[in-house]
Amino acid sequence: MACKITIVPFHTLALCVSVLAVMVMLLHMQGVEAQQQPLVKGLSWKYYESSCPKLESIIRKQMEKVIKKDVGLAAALLRVHFHDCFVQGCDGSLLLDGSSSGPVDSEKTAIPNLSLRGFDVIEDLRKRVHKQCGAGSVSCSDITAIVARDTIVLTGGPEYSVPLGRRDGLSFATRNATLANLPSPFVPTDTLLTNLAAKNFDATEVVALSGAHTIGVVHCSSFGQRLYPTQDTTMDQTFAKTLKGVCPTANTNATTFLDLRSENVFDNKFYVDLMNKQGVMTSDQDLYTDKRTRDIVTSFAVNQTLFFEKFVDVMVKMGQMQVLTGTQGEIRNTCSKRNSDNLVISNVVEGHDTESF
Ligand code: HEM
Repeated sequence: MACKITIVPFHTLALCVSVLAVMVMLLHMQGVEAQQQPLVKGLSWKYYESSCPKLESIIRKQMEKVIKKDVGLAAALLRVHFHDCFVQGCDGSLLLDGSSSGPVDSEKTAIPNLSLRGFDVIEDLRKRVHKQCGAGSVSCSDITAIVARDTIVLTGGPEYSVPLGRRDGLSFATRNATLANLPSPFVPTDTLLTNLAAKNFDATEVVALSGAHTIGVVHCSSFGQRLYPTQDTTMDQTFAKTLKGVCPTANTNATTFLDLRSENVFDNKFYVDLMNKQGVMTSDQDLYTDKRTRDIVTSFAVNQTLFFEKFVDVMVKMGQMQVLTGTQGEIRNTCSKRNSDNLVISNVVEGHDTESF
């Protein structure tokens, strides 16, 4: 329909205006699509609107400084949220230190979590937020989820809203349970799809989640088996040679970037790497070999907007895994300790009887 600026009958003009209005509305709906997902009961987009209105600006401002000083912390902190959510849900249980009296069999000490860092950044943010809004105001698990979103935005990725209202868990998973719940970098797509389907993620979501590897580093031990004793045929020759330089043996204690094209930028280049046989880990590269995920990889490699859309959707979904809400759990006063553990410690210091707790 032509909507030229000439003298047209009123009904034609009205029709043009309505068509334009519908188009504008549809465009707007596309932009906020991720925000339309149904939320799990107890979470909301505006949870702290009145109790801590400055929450997100306090975190964003500080995260800008943190990442400016050490860009590697962006990737590290994004991974912290993922590792928290996949094991026992996004309840901040990963942040808990093991008990000093018993065996330290905590999530934090499970092998895949030993290379995590940035816990001090989360605790520092908790202090800042609680100083502004009061002790017991905002959970460590919510702070972790907001931090993850900020790492994405501050490295060039999409902006999105984070549903809030999580409460912190009172217990952590064992090392074995942690290991069983985190996906392995050594598995082919077939296993990855099966493992993540058990957590309710489909193939598109698995490929989108893996796109987080557009930033950050990986140790030789996570991909050395692709170089030694024989070289993986799905790896580009020149790239393999470079990686062998970084890792003279399979377990050399060194790291390389997960996305060789733009290591600290949150973009879709990771998928371009995969199409060029330049993915570092088996679990990533095989996404381009397996027929079920190959076209999804290509679609993200050629369309960054599509990747961003799917990534935001799946981050919002992941961020709601088995969350504690309402009166479940607690809001910790120190992210690495349950409040009851804190009470015992302060009581001992003050010389009171700990039995009453
Ligand atoms: C899909 C299955 C996944 C597997 C098998 C996997 C595995 C791994 C492994 C083995 C590393 C390197 C550890 C090291 O050698 O130091 C790593 C790094 C990383 N992962 Fe994943 N991951 C997966 C999904 C995710 C998801 C869903 C996210 C976030 C939403 C994520 C974010 C990251 C980031 C940002 C790094 C770099 C960390 C840093 O630089 O400190 N990963 N991942």
